[in-house]
Amino acid sequence: MSSKDIREKYIKFFTDRRHKEIAPAKLVPENDPSTLFTSSGMQPLVPYLLGQSHPAGKRLVDSQPSFRAEDIEEVGDNRHTTFFEMLGNWSLGDYFKKEQLPWIWEFLTKELELKPERLFVTVFGGDNNSQVVTPDGKTFELGLDADSVTEWSKLFEKEKIAPIVVDMTNPETSPLEISAGRIFQYGVSKNWWSRSGSPDKMPTGEIGGPDSEVFYDFGINLGLHEESPWKDQPCHPNCDCGRFLEIGNSVFIQYQKQADGNLKELDQKNVDFGGGLERLTAAAGDKPDICQTDLFKDIIKSIEGLIQAANVYGVKGPKDNFRIIADHIKGATFLIKDGVEPSNKLQGYILRRLLRRAAVEMHFLDGFKLKAMNKMSDLVEAVVETYQGTGYFEEVDINMIKKVIDEEMQRFEKTLEKGLKEIEKIDQIDGKKAFDLYQTFGFPYEVTEELFRQKGQEIDREQFRKEFEKHRELSRTASAGMFKGGLADHSETVTKYHTATHLLHQALRDVLGPQVFQKGSNITSERLRFDFSFDRKMTDEEIKQTEDILNKRIEEDLKVERKIVSPQEAKEIGAIGLFDEKYGNEVSIYGIGPGFALDPKAKDQRERAGYYSLEFCGGPHVEHIGIIGKIKITKEEAVSAGVRRIRAQIV
Ligand code: SER
Repeated sequence: MSSKDIREKYIKFFTDRRHKEIAPAKLVPENDPSTLFTSSGMQPLVPYLLGQSHPAGKRLVDSQPSFRAEDIEEVGDNRHTTFFEMLGNWSLGDYFKKEQLPWIWEFLTKELELKPERLFVTVFGGDNNSQVVTPDGKTFELGLDADSVTEWSKLFEKEKIAPIVVDMTNPETSPLEISAGRIFQYGVSKNWWSRSGSPDKMPTGEIGGPDSEVFYDFGINLGLHEESPWKDQPCHPNCDCGRFLEIGNSVFIQYQKQADGNLKELDQKNVDFGGGLERLTAAAGDKPDICQTDLFKDIIKSIEGLIQAANVYGVKGPKDNFRIIADHIKGATFLIKDGVEPSNKLQGYILRRLLRRAAVEMHFLDGFKLKAMNKMSDLVEAVVETYQGTGYFEEVDINMIKKVIDEEMQRFEKTLEKGLKEIEKIDQIDGKKAFDLYQTFGFPYEVTEELFRQKGQEIDREQFRKEFEKHRELSRTASAGMFKGGLADHSETVTKYHTATHLLHQALRDVLGPQVFQKGSNITSERLRFDFSFDRKMTDEEIKQTEDILNKRIEEDLKVERKIVSPQEAKEIGAIGLFDEKYGNEVSIYGIGPGFALDPKAKDQRERAGYYSLEFCGGPHVEHIGIIGKIKITKEEAVSAGVRRIRAQIV
């Protein structure tokens, strides 16, 4: 079964069950400085999971391209990637566990035809360190998700499979019990989901809840059992040895963290399901390696082509180099498509790391000779081919993506030369120095090891590993920090800037003409950045006029209003912005200025209705624009042909 079939079957399965298909968000979230990337399907939906009504209704489904920078070091095994597609379905206060679990079971066993006996599930076993507060003020300990146990038991029983429940939170559980288990209970580290992790790590306002995962059993141990943290026990779903692959996770988002540390039950109980398309495809094909699925095969083949058959995946040479290159080139292609450029900051830095890591792996695979890395951009074509028919690369300039990669490779070659000279200077390499080379020049450990083997030196692998772990812990903490606040907790300044971009959009159209359209936007708590279509530099006079309009509107303290209307109605009243057919019968629009002094020469419906700005948008926004304060345009520059960029600040 192809990945395309699986994607289509999933969307159909849920639209048949009255879900609306929604358009995926971009990989780099707009107007959300709290996070670098869209890393799950639920991320753009946080306001709706918190209770805001979604224009498409209470049942949603999509396939969301996602990126997890925090997994970069895990790539190379049989299942981890930075970029992946997450199939997701949501209930926004509609159905709950009794519907969700049987549906997922039906999808897996009937649509994907996975054999029930190959499926194992996990549920939340409770946490005696967390307290729940009910709406009437009673508190109780966060307990076992007994409803999920009951649902799964019924489903297994129907298939004549014994639903043996095993409590993995109990140290007394015997190896015999583990071997016989089908439904496994774990604690907060495995079966609790929030964007920040376990309940104690959730910031105030963050939402989350118990989750229930489904694992596919490949029936084989990939030989990594000895490295598993559970090595003293028989294999079980979370063992990590490669025998079991997690293929889907139903999160029951039913709690919100409170300032006093307790978890409050949400009025609206939600379901948030996410399943990695790459893994589902591997399970459907019974292949314990995502690189053997159609989502990677052609990319791997292209890599083999570039390194001129010096190595063949799975036949000669280690697999992890291929996997890293394939994952990183794919991630890089998607990031560049969504507007990221290599740099030393934020998303640009992650892109740079992907490209440079992939380059060094290539350098390694071709025996440091063939300079295959200079041809790395050729792999972009295989990535684009892989996603043919999905629409992801429609209207995308592939040559632009290749050019960005070529330029980065030229820069990297220079750095690499310097790094190699540096290595020449080192008399005796140790694990710490090997790690510094890895950090500074992106030399993977194996490359440094190989270079010194040639010089007759051995490196202390354990010392390298310790440095590496120390660093990994630090970058994990840093990326967890990026989630703090999340969409659930938009800061006031960010919200002000968001409303200011709407004003700016309209002011630019007033000054430069209706050909101006938003092309992108990015906000931090220090400034806004706004890209728009326009084919020349703005004059100083035009910049001043725009600024004056913005500040005049702000002085008028116009009101901001959200409306849910039909797409037809939105178009009729002249709302601008991204419009997606998939939004179904209703769309959310934000209007600034009901009560705005009507221009007697009002030229369109928007002005007649008294709105200064009217845009398709999910929010959030300030209620009155007076609180934004004064805006100053600090820079106007070109981004690409026909696209200009403005930076502005609240002063
Ligand atoms: N939010 C959950 C996850 O990312 C399920 O969608 O795994």
